[in-house]
Amino acid sequence: MRPIFDILARELGTAKVLRDEARLEAYARDESGLGPYPPEAAVLCDSVEEIQLVLRLADEHRVPVVPRGLGTGMTGGALATHGGIVLSTERMQRIKEIDPADLVAVVEPGVITGVLQDAAEAAGLFYPPDPASLAMCSLGGNVAENAGGPRAFKYGVTREYVIGLETVLMGGTRLRPGRRTAKGVTGYDVVGLFCGSEGTFGVSSEITLKLLPKPQGVALLLAVFADPVKAGEAITAIIRKGYRPRALELMDRASIDHVRPKATYPIPVGAGAIVICELDGDEAALAPAVERCAQACDESGATEVVIAADEAQRRRLWETRRITSPSLRHAHRYKVSEDICVPRSAIAEMLRRVDKIGARHDLLMATFGHAGDGNLHVNVLTDEDHREAAVAARIQGALGDIFKDTLSLRGTLSGEHGIGIAKQKYMPWEQAPELIEVQKKLKLTLDPKNLLNPGKIFPT
Ligand code: LAC
Ligand code: ZN
Repeated sequence: MRPIFDILARELGTAKVLRDEARLEAYARDESGLGPYPPEAAVLCDSVEEIQLVLRLADEHRVPVVPRGLGTGMTGGALATHGGIVLSTERMQRIKEIDPADLVAVVEPGVITGVLQDAAEAAGLFYPPDPASLAMCSLGGNVAENAGGPRAFKYGVTREYVIGLETVLMGGTRLRPGRRTAKGVTGYDVVGLFCGSEGTFGVSSEITLKLLPKPQGVALLLAVFADPVKAGEAITAIIRKGYRPRALELMDRASIDHVRPKATYPIPVGAGAIVICELDGDEAALAPAVERCAQACDESGATEVVIAADEAQRRRLWETRRITSPSLRHAHRYKVSEDICVPRSAIAEMLRRVDKIGARHDLLMATFGHAGDGNLHVNVLTDEDHREAAVAARIQGALGDIFKDTLSLRGTLSGEHGIGIAKQKYMPWEQAPELIEVQKKLKLTLDPKNLLNPGKIFPT
């Protein structure tokens, strides 16, 4: 047994240093479906000092450390592929401050995203980033992955709200990059660099977030189309007419068919695509704005358009979209969800290509997601045994084709879930060797022994 675990148990208490197999199971997986990769120990930190201690000792003993929020990541970023310690911030759940004058919140990394949103709204404020997992993911994980969500269409992703960090480097050095002010260009944008670094640069112990005033009202419409290409046209029409919804979501036929049995909204038989369009702003301006978006859907050939009459109906209609990913998972033995992003003008073409890829590899595909951003969750599904060589080869073939087509349409491998271990082998398809080399050097500047979340993002 490595002496570091005994030292940690002595310093932090055995309740915070988990070593038995049964307890470690919960730290061996995430939402990627990869693994299991049980760590040698999971250490549950309560403070910045404890994070510093773990990172100092691990550096001295040359033990890898994998930072972990609440394990909802979809690309394996929080998995201990090289053994060692999983450092969990799940217990650090304090909202330290919500300041309506400065429009900032200061939180610990284990705060659940939805909990901060509710607290901000109770104070008349607004924290826009809304990953689908907002009821069970943490802000520390959101920062590590630079999480997105439907409202990114109007409000942008997590990085746009993180203005300051307290973060600990491998070895235990504590840094406080960033600011509390509305603006600030002192030095490099270190905070921006840490957002989306997938836990390879440091472990955040405190996050300062920008808040907005809470929008006065919200309106939502759901439109049904016979086929996704028409839906894509409606999305383009809404954008080109200059309307500014906060979310513009799409579901294709396969996604709809999976959701239909559970949805409270009676989805018409034969629906080939659904668009959800949500707007926010001043009450007086909302009703005409949502009407105009509904009209744009009509003009693009919608077969049905529903405008939510009240808040309860708005939430019910959103459910149709929010349960998509879990519904696909429950219905099939194997599911992998990609999060490719293509230029907005290429959405319809990408959807056509996804159909062809499914047919070519004889796999079921379901596509949904943040179409306003061109960010599509292409899901590859099968009920066969994905570990069987022939099936695995078909899945790999389909994924390869999805990424090839994405890149040929000038898209990117990941719009919101990160690279982790799931997509690292495709990195050279998108980025030149020089660019990958610069990023690897940056990593080694901050972590010279390559011990913090090693083996992630870049091809190994
Ligand atoms: C969603 C997740 C998969 O948008 O990102 O549902
Ligand atoms: Zn998403």
